[in-house]
Amino acid sequence: MNIAILGLGTVGTGACEAAARSEAIKVRWIFVRPGKKVALEYQDLITSDIDDIINDPEVDVVCECMGGETPAYEYVMAAMKHGKHVVTPNKGLVSAHYRELVDCARENGVALRFTSSAGGGIPWLFNLLRTKRCDTITRVWGILNGTCNYILDTMHREGSDFDQILKSAQDLGYAEKDPTADIEGIDTLRKCVISGDLAFDGDIDPDSVPAFGISTITAKDISWFKAKGYVCRLIMSASRSEDGVSAYVEPTLFRADSLEAGTGANNNLVSLEAEELGIQSFYGQGAGKAPTGSSVIQDVIDIATGTEMLPGGYYHLPAGSTPVDNSTCTHRYYIHISNDCQGFPFQIVAEQEEDKDGFYLITKPVPVSQAHSIAQEFRSNGSFFMAGIQE
Ligand SMILES: NC(=O)c1ccc[n+]([C@@H]2O[C@H](COP(=O)([O-])OP(=O)(O)OC[C@H]3O[C@@H](n4cnc5c(N)ncnc54)[C@H](OP(=O)(O)O)[C@@H]3O)[C@@H](O)[C@H]2O)c1
Repeated sequence: MNIAILGLGTVGTGACEAAARSEAIKVRWIFVRPGKKVALEYQDLITSDIDDIINDPEVDVVCECMGGETPAYEYVMAAMKHGKHVVTPNKGLVSAHYRELVDCARENGVALRFTSSAGGGIPWLFNLLRTKRCDTITRVWGILNGTCNYILDTMHREGSDFDQILKSAQDLGYAEKDPTADIEGIDTLRKCVISGDLAFDGDIDPDSVPAFGISTITAKDISWFKAKGYVCRLIMSASRSEDGVSAYVEPTLFRADSLEAGTGANNNLVSLEAEELGIQSFYGQGAGKAPTGSSVIQDVIDIATGTEMLPGGYYHLPAGSTPVDNSTCTHRYYIHISNDCQGFPFQIVAEQEEDKDGFYLITKPVPVSQAHSIAQEFRSNGSFFMAGIQE
């Protein structure tokens, strides 16, 4: 199998190294920006003209490892239209353009694989599809952002403030210079959409999935959780609902003896529940050069060996976009809100404590849709943090 790798950053380099460890795969081209300095071993493979790759009949698979939507979208569409299979870890691309990508792959009779886009090195999406071959998945959920997990785990262990831990995560390379997509739950939301699409044969619009991140959590919230025997994790959840799916991203409080609470540092833990199989959980490194690069090459090997996870070869798409309804999914929430909270619906509160920094509340069970509307309304009003409580 001859492959072309687009982008020689973290994942692209990991994919080159993993390809070198696999006898069946040969890297034929590496696409970089003009003038990029590359290691000697790659210099004969470099091009900055995408047409070299698109028009090369010897290229079987294009591995898009650049990230972003443009020009990644244009390049992978062109590759598929020229009969090339596509593998990508690019969750932003897949979650935003799922239907066009799947349709294009089907029309051109090529494979489209993106196992590394959710869970990095963990074969999560691979096993999700494998389970679906003879079972019905009812729910997927889990910790899919290593940066947030590192921050929450360190805050819990050390009792330090969010900003301080974020800074150390950036110094260690666990967090980006601009951490917004991670800490506001956007990265987790994209993985929620992809996992939900595959689990439920959906086409979930990312804009219809509410996400509440961890940027407003305080050391005081964490000490409250510890005192009550809880550990906080950022999770995505998607499940079947009557007409579509329930899907959301939010911090969640787990009992200290749960698998989620035991998932420390920058690790991921993601689970599925299926009607016959029950619960299966997958744990490991959800990011990084070697795990993610290897996962890209595993997809290439599956294409080469014809390992088929999809009945009929392609992802099943519904006629229109899948409705997201979080109104029938209910649980209790922890909410921390500043004293200045006029209009807050105190009728949903079951337990209440107050000090100079605000109210610390436990709600009665409320619909997820209502909790996220409250978050929308109050998050910019002084300090506000909320976390669902795993019952
Ligand atoms: N890092 C991980 O552990 C991980 C895990 C799972 C999924 N992913 C996904 O994998 C993708 C790549 O992530 P990464 O961490 O490898 O990013 P990265 O380290 O920033 O690498 C991206 C590379 O692509 C190059 N690139 C971007 N646009 C280009 C263009 N128009 N033309 C030529 N080269 C271009 C960049 O070049 P410049 O540096 O010159 O801009 C850079 O070398 C993203 O979609 C990410 O979400 C990453």
